[in-house]
Amino acid sequence: MSHPDAMIWNDRYTKEARWRNLQYPRNLLTTHQDLLPRNGLVLDAACGTTPTGLHLARQGWQVIALDVSNAALRIVQSEVQKEALPVSFALMDLENPWLPSNRFDVVLNFYFLSRPLLSTYRRSIKRGGLLFFETFVRDESYSPETDGNPHHYLEPQELKHAFADWNIIHYEETQRTSHSMHRSKSRRIVQMVARKLE
Ligand SMILES: C[S@@+](CC[C@H](N)C(=O)[O-])C[C@H]1O[C@@H](n2cnc3c(N)ncnc32)[C@H](O)[C@@H]1O
Repeated sequence: MSHPDAMIWNDRYTKEARWRNLQYPRNLLTTHQDLLPRNGLVLDAACGTTPTGLHLARQGWQVIALDVSNAALRIVQSEVQKEALPVSFALMDLENPWLPSNRFDVVLNFYFLSRPLLSTYRRSIKRGGLLFFETFVRDESYSPETDGNPHHYLEPQELKHAFADWNIIHYEETQRTSHSMHRSKSRRIVQMVARKLE
């Protein structure tokens, strides 16, 4: 039997072309890429088709990409083979995962929230390593009927408090409007770049 999140996401990756992005890395990474050391190990958590991980792998970074959706990872596999990129990937439920301590130079967490992962990242990122985090924040317009599971939303300032003892290089909560075929929706997002202290 498949994981319930895998069933939802496999369907999206199979049916909706917009999820099969292999070329456009997240701006939060590209606008702060000068912070990265010359090489190292990157974890892309809940990677989807890992466009940001592929962007770094194309420049020689070693990337580990984890996701619960085998449909997403099949797309990654085909791209990695085609371009011979240094990307390893694994099917994993990240709701409450075990990850090794002091292992990653960079962690990418884009548009996924599992609260147990926050303390896992604190342990798994090496001293001096970087966390890039971007996802939704609950705002006054949140409605469970249209916006889904409340556990998928951070509270305002929650991320900043969780990493208050790190060097927070960039932190911004902003309102963004997304457009789909059916509706336009304004949602609050948080972006954070934080470095674990040496
Ligand atoms: C909005 S997509 C973001 C993909 C990618 N991080 C990006 O920004 O392009 C959310 C991803 O979370 C993954 N996901 C959902 N639940 C998960 C779980 N329990 N464990 C691991 N990945 C999960 C989905 O399969 C999907 O690829």
